[in-house]
Amino acid sequence: MPRRFLSERRRDPYYRAAQREGLRSRAAFKLMYLDDRFRLFRPGARVLDLGAAPGGWSMVARDRVGPRGEVVAVDPRPIEPIDGVRSVRGKVGDPGLLRGLGDAPFDVVLSDMSPRISGAYATDHARSVSLVHDALALARRTLRPGGSFTAKVFDGDLVDDLLRELTRTFAAVRRTKPPASREPSSEIYLVALGYRPEGASGGPGRKTSPGSASDI
Ligand SMILES: C[S@@+](CC[C@H](N)C(=O)[O-])C[C@H]1O[C@@H](n2cnc3c(N)ncnc32)[C@H](O)[C@@H]1O
Repeated sequence: MPRRFLSERRRDPYYRAAQREGLRSRAAFKLMYLDDRFRLFRPGARVLDLGAAPGGWSMVARDRVGPRGEVVAVDPRPIEPIDGVRSVRGKVGDPGLLRGLGDAPFDVVLSDMSPRISGAYATDHARSVSLVHDALALARRTLRPGGSFTAKVFDGDLVDDLLRELTRTFAAVRRTKPPASREPSSEIYLVALGYRPEGASGGPGRKTSPGSASDI
């Protein structure tokens, strides 16, 4: 790794705190912030964590749902075993993935997936949005009514369409940037609460939603 990256990392308070607390990624602090702010987890909840390697988010989710909860972690990269977390090696977007997830619905679907970075902003933005679409398609097949969907996306022109789409099937949608997210990074998080599946009463199209809001 380049020397400058290593020395910046050593000075990064979130990296140091992650090391101190035995967390696998500094990204764990982003999920703690999102949960503290939006109350994503409750004891006993079932969580699907997409793009989970190396496992920082899964550890946070496991601790917050407690021993009666369940966390399923999905990534094409291997994940070192984590007590209380079931790992599924696979790629979101692959039709076969659903079979490995089991039949029980999830209360929370998370996606911290990142595309392979090309360095061309428009390309990386479009790939990141496409990953969110794939995650959302999976969430629609696995979330229980009332559940939540949280996804990272690289900000840009296509995010407004994504927000509109989320607003159609969730009661409330927020966009936010956790303090642990590096300032120069274009990543933001979309948090969609209160899933309303197609056809459910109060479902998409009903105008009772507080709609989308933003703190950035
Ligand atoms: C920033 S890392 C996730 C970090 C993780 N949240 C943590 O706290 O340890 C992004 C992950 O997204 C995964 N990813 C990218 N495309 C994916 C896909 N189609 N399906 C599942 N995971 C994917 C990558 O393999 C990578 O491990």
